[in-house]
Amino acid sequence: MLAQLDTLRTEALAAVGTANDQAAIEAVRVNFLGKKGSITALSAGMRDVPADQKKEAGARLNDVRTAVTEAIEAKQETLRKAEDAASVAGVDVSLPGRPGYGTGALHPLTQVRDLAVRTLRRMGFVLAEGPEIETEWHCFDALNTPADHPARNEKDTFYLADGRLLRTHTSTVQIRTMETVKELPVRIIAPGAAYRRDEIDATHLSVFNQLECLYVDKGVSLADLKGTLESFFREIFGPQTAVRFRPHFFPFTEPSFEIDVKLEARGRDARWIEIAGCGMVDPAVFAAVNNSRGDNLFDAGEVTGFAFGLGVDRLAMILHSITDIRHLIENDVRFLAQF
Ligand code: PHE
Repeated sequence: MLAQLDTLRTEALAAVGTANDQAAIEAVRVNFLGKKGSITALSAGMRDVPADQKKEAGARLNDVRTAVTEAIEAKQETLRKAEDAASVAGVDVSLPGRPGYGTGALHPLTQVRDLAVRTLRRMGFVLAEGPEIETEWHCFDALNTPADHPARNEKDTFYLADGRLLRTHTSTVQIRTMETVKELPVRIIAPGAAYRRDEIDATHLSVFNQLECLYVDKGVSLADLKGTLESFFREIFGPQTAVRFRPHFFPFTEPSFEIDVKLEARGRDARWIEIAGCGMVDPAVFAAVNNSRGDNLFDAGEVTGFAFGLGVDRLAMILHSITDIRHLIENDVRFLAQF
């Protein structure tokens, strides 16, 4: 047995020595160590070795197996290195790359969304989200929007066959969040897509991006809303930016406002641009949420809140003087490479 093992070792190592490509070395491995290989066969023969020689024979078998395995692996490695070297022979790695569009960058919409989110997170808001396919209840009823409101029209909203819809605004996340939180305060930002059956033109797409903000606690006031929005827009557009609140109507806030910011258009007089909708959460919204939760966490006698929603596409267009919203989805590299 011992002599057989020594012979096998010599044969195997010699075979490894002469194997000059991966296929040859693989054949050596199969011949000696494979299921029907000769070393494997010998270990099956261990059964017949007399008890007093078993220990020595077993140790020798292990030595041989280890030595042959290591020799095969070393040879495989050597062959692999040689192949790698051969495959790049003649390639000049010091040759400069071809000029192109560089390393790329985040999409302008992503950049503006991140800027808005970063700014609000510094003020203590946390990210929240909700589904884009929504129930009518979350999109309209819970937001105090009556059944005959024009936004609920099939002409304006994409309905699915099962009665659900593509959310027309991110205000749905106000409801989704208030339905599930355990305690106050609620202070969230929810960026995401919204869908409307709009005619597509330079300022309208049927899919666009909004950012929703909601703050509910005891004692939240209109002054908090105003202060938050003013510092938010000054952070985004610069410290000199004037912000104006214009009375408006939304079913889910009372009072409600539209917000304009005054921007210096290049080479033209400053003008007011409508940028967001906002207001104090309507008690009817708290009532709907309580009803769905089955408790009174949002007791309208105790808690108040503010909400605002703004168009991220619009924000990006204003910040970068983009005149056509369609640029944002056409993925023309000549456009995107500017950001
Ligand atoms: N959801 C409103 C819209 O899409 C904006 C809004 C959000 C208004 C929150 C008030 C409060 O136009």
